[in-house]
Amino acid sequence: MKYRIAMAAILALTMQAASAQDKPAAAVPAGQKDATTLEFEKFRTQMEQEGNPAELFELQGEEFWKAKRGPKNVALTASCDLGLGVGVVKGAYVQMPRYFADAGKVMDAERRIVWCMVEKQGYKFDDLARRPFAGDNYTPEQTSLVTYVAAQSANMKFAVPLKDPHVREVYEIGKEVVAYRAGPYDFSCNTCHGADGKRIRMQNLPNLGTPQGALSAVLGWPGYRMTGSVMLTHQWRMSDCFRQQRFPQPKYASDTITALLTYMTANANGHMYKGLGIKR
Ligand code: HEC
Repeated sequence: MKYRIAMAAILALTMQAASAQDKPAAAVPAGQKDATTLEFEKFRTQMEQEGNPAELFELQGEEFWKAKRGPKNVALTASCDLGLGVGVVKGAYVQMPRYFADAGKVMDAERRIVWCMVEKQGYKFDDLARRPFAGDNYTPEQTSLVTYVAAQSANMKFAVPLKDPHVREVYEIGKEVVAYRAGPYDFSCNTCHGADGKRIRMQNLPNLGTPQGALSAVLGWPGYRMTGSVMLTHQWRMSDCFRQQRFPQPKYASDTITALLTYMTANANGHMYKGLGIKR
């Protein structure tokens, strides 16, 4: 009961009508797209054809990947293994999260890149974690690196190695995290993402439990976000949803975030990753 009242209050505050006159925000039937969404998708397709601003970050990331950098003056291309061998980037993004024996952990792309920056190049984790996501006129180096690495998996199929028992275990944890209810409003991810056709502030919220929803949860990340004109990673998306959930902010590059990304990405296995995105 407490949960219901809090939900109603929050959703009343954050939801708006789908269009000026009629449909309430949550009532767009599953599988159907409303006018706002269709309009944005048209605009996005046009932008993508004309050149996604994300490509600038890809170029920057490529420079960072190839140059000797950091206190140890080492290049990632000569030292960092993203799972397919040292320096190999093609196809690496769609096969992460995966287990890395040298770190003894399952890691998503961003976490692995940060691990390489710390272990191979000698950067300090705390420095990288201080301001891990883009903001006003600022883009962390690891964001550009993730963008570069992700772009080299465009048009390849997601293939998270779920047969690996380490990965499977983390996948199961992710599944639990998605359903876990807590915080001042007793929200879980599923409160907002567990049904088809839910919308908040004109955004379509993917139902993470369905294959189609899982796919839309992973496509287009990392992506260039029109709001604020920033380049953002999938890790950022997770952190921001923890904020929406009124949970304490998870630690940067933590196990919890990897678990969520493992769950969502593996649910999209077999589907095509379309490359860098544009988000509203
Ligand atoms: C209070 C409601 C709420 C909760 C709880 C919530 N989210 Fe979200 N989520 C949103 C909203 C709103 C957006 C869209 C924001 C935007 O695009 O500006 C979103 C977007 C997303 C996206 C991106 C979808 C896309 O189209 O790219 C993913 C993935 C996601 N959430 C996952 C999660 C996960 C995992 C959790 C639990 C840790 C969670 N969310 C909890 C409201 C919520």
